[in-house]
Amino acid sequence: LPPLRIGLAGLGTVGASVIALLDRQAAALTARIGREVRVVAVSARDPGKERGVDLQRFAWVADPVALAKSSDIDLFVELIGGEEGVALAAAEAALRAGKSVVTANKALLARHGMRLSRLAEEHFVALAFEASVAGGIPIVKTLREGLAGNSIERVYGILNGTCNYILSRMELEGLSFARCLSEAQGLGYAEADPTFDIGGFDTAHKLAILTSLAFGTVIDADSIAIEGIQSISLADLEAAAELGYRVKLLGVARRTADGIEQRVHPTMVPKSSSIAQVMGVTNAVTIDADAVHELTLVGPGAGGEATASAIVADIADIARGVRTPPFGLPAASLAAMPHAPMQLH
Ligand code: HSE
Repeated sequence: LPPLRIGLAGLGTVGASVIALLDRQAAALTARIGREVRVVAVSARDPGKERGVDLQRFAWVADPVALAKSSDIDLFVELIGGEEGVALAAAEAALRAGKSVVTANKALLARHGMRLSRLAEEHFVALAFEASVAGGIPIVKTLREGLAGNSIERVYGILNGTCNYILSRMELEGLSFARCLSEAQGLGYAEADPTFDIGGFDTAHKLAILTSLAFGTVIDADSIAIEGIQSISLADLEAAAELGYRVKLLGVARRTADGIEQRVHPTMVPKSSSIAQVMGVTNAVTIDADAVHELTLVGPGAGGEATASAIVADIADIARGVRTPPFGLPAASLAAMPHAPMQLH
């Protein structure tokens, strides 16, 4: 097979890590996939910025939309970010031009995932998004492939590394919220606008994607009741600790008699529970399902390398010709899929 030619737009922490990881694993990847995967062109706002990787060997395309539909690429990696604007325009342009798309953009998928996934099917290409939920944890594959033989009752977990980092540092080190947030930003964990992290919106975007995969429902982030961690103080954490609890920001989706319920809020969890042991930028996702009963995946939820790991896995799948329907059920079944209603608690 000829090399799979990749165009990559967005060279922040994650984009630079994807290039570095593809370089580091080049020989092993070619052996595993049976074909070379090769970045040929990139697009970023500031071509001059030092990113710690050699970018001179790639063609630079100023306009990400032009790159997305360029006949020089087979696959477009969207790491621009943002739920509208250039990221959406570029992803759409790529799919319409018959290029598969790999994205880490949970905000984009939460808002436009259904439409983008239909577009991918219409053009016989893949829309892959392993990196969009829980960083390096292969939760999309686990739900879609590994648990295909299960009926899922509940999915819940710690889905935002920044919030878990902040809550952990506050509790263990007694540091202020503001200081922990700025540390998380310095480490490259936080969103460009950290309100998405601390307000619970990033967790909600990820939960909406998980819900769709787990229950076959449409992606519906708007119906999620969301409470973030902005108002959690050191005194709250101390009070919880005295009672034997830790505070974690959880996303929860579960089957109820009235439909699938989705919510995001800070939750007191017993210190002895396994989810309470998940500290720092680490994420954890627990799935309750009929055949496996309970399954928990724990791993790095944010950061360049961990996220790059998930993106490279998607690239490898597409290079092998894997083209699973992006959101669980084929487009033909979409009309019959239940809307995910919300119960407020
Ligand atoms: N800001 C996100 C987080 C990045 O902290 O989890 C990974 O999606």
